[in-house]
Amino acid sequence: MRYSMNKQQASREIISLREQIERHNHLYYVLAAPEISDRQYDALYHRLEEIEHAHPDLVSEDSPTQRVGGQPLPGFTPVQHAVPMLSLSNTYSKDELREFDIRVSRVLGNRTFTYVVEPKIDGVAVSLVYENGLLTIGSTRGDGVTGDDITANIRTIRSIPLRLLRTKSMPALLEVRGEVFMPKTGFSAFNAVRDEAGDEPFANPRNAAAGSLKLLDSRIVAKRPLDAVFYEIARPQDIPIATQAELLERLKSFGFPTSPTYWESPAIDGVIERLDELDSLRRRFPFGTNGAVIKVNQRNLRGILGSTAKSPRWETAFKFEPERVETRLINISVQVGRTGVLTPVAELEPVSIAGSVVRRATLHNMDEIHRKDIRIGDRVIVEKAGDVIPAIVQIVADARNGKELVFSMPSECPVCVGPVIRLENQVATRCENLQCPAQIKSWLRHFAARNAMDIEGLGEVLVEQLVDNGLVKSPADLYDLDREDVAGLDRMADRSADNLIDGIRASRQREFWRLIFALGIRHVGQISAQRLEEHFENIDVLMSASVENLEKTPDVGPIVAKSIHDFLSGPPRRVLIKRLRESGVNMKRLASSQSSAGPLCGKTFVLTGTLADLTRDEATDLIRRAGGRVSSSVSAKTSFVVAGSDPGSKLARAEKLGVPILDENGFRKLVGHPEQ
Ligand code: IVH
Repeated sequence: MRYSMNKQQASREIISLREQIERHNHLYYVLAAPEISDRQYDALYHRLEEIEHAHPDLVSEDSPTQRVGGQPLPGFTPVQHAVPMLSLSNTYSKDELREFDIRVSRVLGNRTFTYVVEPKIDGVAVSLVYENGLLTIGSTRGDGVTGDDITANIRTIRSIPLRLLRTKSMPALLEVRGEVFMPKTGFSAFNAVRDEAGDEPFANPRNAAAGSLKLLDSRIVAKRPLDAVFYEIARPQDIPIATQAELLERLKSFGFPTSPTYWESPAIDGVIERLDELDSLRRRFPFGTNGAVIKVNQRNLRGILGSTAKSPRWETAFKFEPERVETRLINISVQVGRTGVLTPVAELEPVSIAGSVVRRATLHNMDEIHRKDIRIGDRVIVEKAGDVIPAIVQIVADARNGKELVFSMPSECPVCVGPVIRLENQVATRCENLQCPAQIKSWLRHFAARNAMDIEGLGEVLVEQLVDNGLVKSPADLYDLDREDVAGLDRMADRSADNLIDGIRASRQREFWRLIFALGIRHVGQISAQRLEEHFENIDVLMSASVENLEKTPDVGPIVAKSIHDFLSGPPRRVLIKRLRESGVNMKRLASSQSSAGPLCGKTFVLTGTLADLTRDEATDLIRRAGGRVSSSVSAKTSFVVAGSDPGSKLARAEKLGVPILDENGFRKLVGHPEQ
């Protein structure tokens, strides 16, 4: 690259790149209307990184490259709010809302005013300070007077501007207030990943957002799907404007994400009509909405109304009753997860809530059952917490007839009948038997998953059969299976038996990080497994690493480091690793796994039909070694389809989408393996 540019040129290009990147960030994350492809965006970003790398003195805090900071913080610093963050008075009743209107009208006398109705976002309140257009402090509400400085975490949220978009008049000081939330879709996916890594899922998106903002390591926060909406400024003098409606538009023009809808209404009747409209719209919002906030629109009238010690008199919240239904708790069953944790699950008489039928609800743990005094046979009130996960809110005590049964956690694992333990200071009850079929099954599913050892042919049903027939008790047993073992299973066709055996065999050559992830170490997700591979070249080095040493890996904090250390030093795991090694499973960093180095880096291949001289695994291997990826389905993003004889529908799809098609010869040339 052109490092020969002088400082002035570099500075000029940096400024231009930052402006372009922030603009595209805003188009993508806030307006959901990107103008350039991800690739073009990446090119701008990499160019900026490159110049900043060559000119470190030109790196500044507001650069988009600096969203994720360095080391974790030792703790949060308190921040005194310049203007207290009050709370809102609230009601569930439309009559009380009319009383609010009467009070407001009485105080305002004959002055004309209107109301603005906004969604009440179910997130975490934050306050952000911008000095000369630059984000300088982000804080939590705390007790309203003093909050925590969470600037490093706030900076990682892509929809929050690090620098205000240029507008005509830029305030020297601006303090905005709003809510950080985890979008509903992101929440479901994030919880699924947590579950997979053996971490306790969050009960609802609000808790997930609050938990994320309280992390001391902003590098972890950066990976969480967080977003925000802003609706207020701390000081009226920050932007001298007349109305709330105008304020929301101004916030938008500075680059802040704002509510997708709000309404203005001249009278309380109109406000009340809007509440029903909001109620029918809110399920489509990316955030949870637990009500509406009704505000006097004219900002100069707010001072006349003033505040109580707790909340302003010119605004109030109307809360929607979460949709709740009564049903019967038929039974409490117990599930055993991959890490052996026993989770009680409520089996309910099916009921419909918020558009879907609910049959089960999580009860989390014994503490929850005790706290709510839940018994089998109880009539219970169920709601969808944060619009997502069904939960039991309370029991209907009056409906008891004395025949309800008190539930206690089994002292034996419901699956393997092995002993369970509940550690002191821990809410979880755990099955200690590593041989428990429930644990083995979820471990095998995890081990074989596409993002782990990627064992083609080993699906859910087969895992059940292999374990139930006693053929597999640990991932190591997979590698001892032969064709005859599996061919004997129910409904097993010859082809699938072959596929499975081929799939297992091929998985021996996977990248090392896949094995680290597949081992199912608590708290070790895919990303940390990849970081571990970068730091520890093989399993022996990893196994002999101290906790301190493990902690030096990015993405690996003290808890994760200890978990890895404990896992790898236990004798059963040592035996497992020994057996996997003897079966020929790769346990070291492959030269080719630094895929960014290969000539096919970034290219995705789909294989279809039979190649004359290469098995599918050999072809896959050649692609991986060259840095490419193999995928099972054709999309517009597929770089090449490799077609052998008897190709399937994938070929037709590739033709339709205009994806380049290679025959065996073309493929061999491309991967640098021409026919001899
Ligand atoms: S106005 C006095 N507008 O709800 C503080 N608040 O339950 C009110 N909230 O503390 C600020 N959506 O964190 C306002 N559109 C909205 C809101 C909203 C959510 C939060 C805010 C407040 C809490 C009160």
